[in-house]
Amino acid sequence: MRWPKGLDGLCYGGDYNPEQWPETTWVEDVELMRRARVNLVTVGVFAWSRLEPHPGEYTVDWLDRALDLLQQGGIRVVLATPTASPPPWFSLTHPDALPVTADGVRLRHGSRDTYCAAAPAYRVAARRIAAMLAERYRDHPALAMWHVHNEYGTVCHCPHAADAFRRWLQQRYGDLDRLNEAWTGAFWSQCYSEWTQIDPPRATQYLTNPTQVLDFRRFWSDELLAAYRDQRDLLREHTPDVPVTTNYVFGDWVPVDHARWAREIDLIAVDHYPTETDGRAEEQTALAADLARSWSRPVTGDGSPPSAGRHRPWLLMESAPNLIYRYAEGTAYAKEPGRMLRHSIAHVARGSRGAMFFQWRAPRGGAEAFHSAMVPHAGADSRTFRSAVQLGEALRLLAATDTAAVAARAAIGWDAASGWALQHPGLPSGHISYADEVAAAHRALWRCGITTDFVCPATGPLDLTGYRMLVLPALYLMDDAVADTLADWVRTGGYLVVSYLSGVADPDARVRLGGYPGALRELLGVRSEEFLPLGPDGTVRLSGGRTGRLWRERFEAGAAEPVLDYVDGVLAGQPAVTRRSVGAGAAWYLSTRLDDDGYRELLAVVAAEAGVAPVLPAAPAGVEAVRRVDGTTRWLFLFNHGREEAVVAATGDVLVSGGVLPSGEIMVAGEFLPASDVLLTVGGGPGRWPGAPAGVTGILGRGRGSRRVRVPPGGLLVLREPDQPVGNRNHRHPTPSGADGHRH
Ligand code: GAL
Repeated sequence: MRWPKGLDGLCYGGDYNPEQWPETTWVEDVELMRRARVNLVTVGVFAWSRLEPHPGEYTVDWLDRALDLLQQGGIRVVLATPTASPPPWFSLTHPDALPVTADGVRLRHGSRDTYCAAAPAYRVAARRIAAMLAERYRDHPALAMWHVHNEYGTVCHCPHAADAFRRWLQQRYGDLDRLNEAWTGAFWSQCYSEWTQIDPPRATQYLTNPTQVLDFRRFWSDELLAAYRDQRDLLREHTPDVPVTTNYVFGDWVPVDHARWAREIDLIAVDHYPTETDGRAEEQTALAADLARSWSRPVTGDGSPPSAGRHRPWLLMESAPNLIYRYAEGTAYAKEPGRMLRHSIAHVARGSRGAMFFQWRAPRGGAEAFHSAMVPHAGADSRTFRSAVQLGEALRLLAATDTAAVAARAAIGWDAASGWALQHPGLPSGHISYADEVAAAHRALWRCGITTDFVCPATGPLDLTGYRMLVLPALYLMDDAVADTLADWVRTGGYLVVSYLSGVADPDARVRLGGYPGALRELLGVRSEEFLPLGPDGTVRLSGGRTGRLWRERFEAGAAEPVLDYVDGVLAGQPAVTRRSVGAGAAWYLSTRLDDDGYRELLAVVAAEAGVAPVLPAAPAGVEAVRRVDGTTRWLFLFNHGREEAVVAATGDVLVSGGVLPSGEIMVAGEFLPASDVLLTVGGGPGRWPGAPAGVTGILGRGRGSRRVRVPPGGLLVLREPDQPVGNRNHRHPTPSGADGHRH
């Protein structure tokens, strides 16, 4: 089935809030959507008080008319259930359903997300409004997909949450002895003798119990999932052929284990707002897209390779056309013009079934009045809207790539629970962030030009079929089954890189005894006795001119060979990084955070040994390359994140090229011409670029040489590469003789 239902090609659009506008504006909206080639909009996300102004009284005629108008305009609808923002009457009628913070403060209405997902009254009201929408719109021809709620992520510590937590704990542990053991209740006199004595981790005198906090986060993820399932199940009953989704939000505060949720969601949808303004924004984009693609992988493996066909589609559901708020800092930053185009297509390159935005039209008021929109306050006569039109054209031209797979031979481990466990202040360093550890590993592979999947060792049997290389950054919690799978995989030819703080504890966050990293000691051939964390600015010199940060360990490299040593400090002369040959593979241990260049070089060496090749080995710095493959057809996406034109050794037919003019206008052109002939140069000179908005000129240049293309600064080029002869796929990259070049 093609999802979203009834849509061919890539999805393009955003959150659309007709309830905020007079109907005359709707007519203009549909006209502008058509101009921008928008084909999908998310309607009704926060419309509860408009849909149900009084308990049980519905006003839906406006939504009928809005959906009809969109349908007539050829625009399909992701219809949202508005349950992320209950109306004021709900909070006043059910004050017990308002959320309570860990400090015991009951929050009041006045924002959004003012509910407790465990409160029975909330669950009933949420099901009721979802059922009303399902009954009314089940046969509406515009309906392409259901969107439950918005960004599940708020936490509550109220008595309803406490009751539900106790029920969850009873299911998990069966009896209190087991719970007391798992929570190490003997420490600080925390053994429970009745289930009713157990609370969510509320404000307390000193450090909380780490396993209680971890279990509460696991429980809350399950509780939110149950709230999602309530709605999903009834929507499915009414419309079995319409997919149901909810939009994932990123952040280490998010109490949702996205990988675990994945099997319950028809189409994985993510919202992505880079938080960095420098080149890191591109790394964050790739990381988010790789995670989303990996979450869309069936959870239990069937033994087939993870390449073609193993990822279900996913969708970038929200992103910002321009200004992104940084609420915590009380500021916002503007995306450079090229980033809207490059980031949107970068998501598509990594498997997104399109690009959607928050939001279609900038609101006149409300808490996010200045958040960017495809139609800004200035209206359609604006650079942002013209860019939206150009992006719509690019997505149309890319429709052919839609079903192609993104194949990766390298993977990184991802485990939400390990991330939560590492947030406890009782850990030896408050400067270790799991998200940063994962990002550093991903960045190193990204800079090697290697496409990376994520695997989630805690969400079911770990299936590493098809992967040649795996990096496990700070995978703190590990059960024996995962450790055994890793050992078997390495023995049969896998290349494993493990960082500090991996395998240290069991799934109850109880430390494995006998030396760190408990679960992986034997496989890695190391036994670590002591942690010597570094302060936030502390560094340690390593051999080979490299630097370590954040962490150090004193360990014996028994069966492993030293690759890098500590050069100064109390560990001078001791190993810092080791490698152990195991069967047909090898296992590496990193006891400190290598500087970015060192990490990249190390992973390049491991990749070369593992036979994992970069997408484009000769890509110049600043050029990102991603390949999608559909049978024998291969699409090469090239992004130039630099400020200079890039000349890239690649060949094929140009499907789309895009760039940014000095004025900030985005230019997109699609010409099915050999890449050797079409070289697009942006700005200046005579001639009109095909597809350029009136009054904007550019040059359609001509090139020489048959194997080179030029990608404009801040721009992109998508090529259909010549078909690859059968038998030449999965080319094994030769192992360079300097594979062990890191030794000193
Ligand atoms: C998202 C949210 C949207 C909007 C947006 C602003 O997280 O789903 O409703 O608030 O952030 O960046």
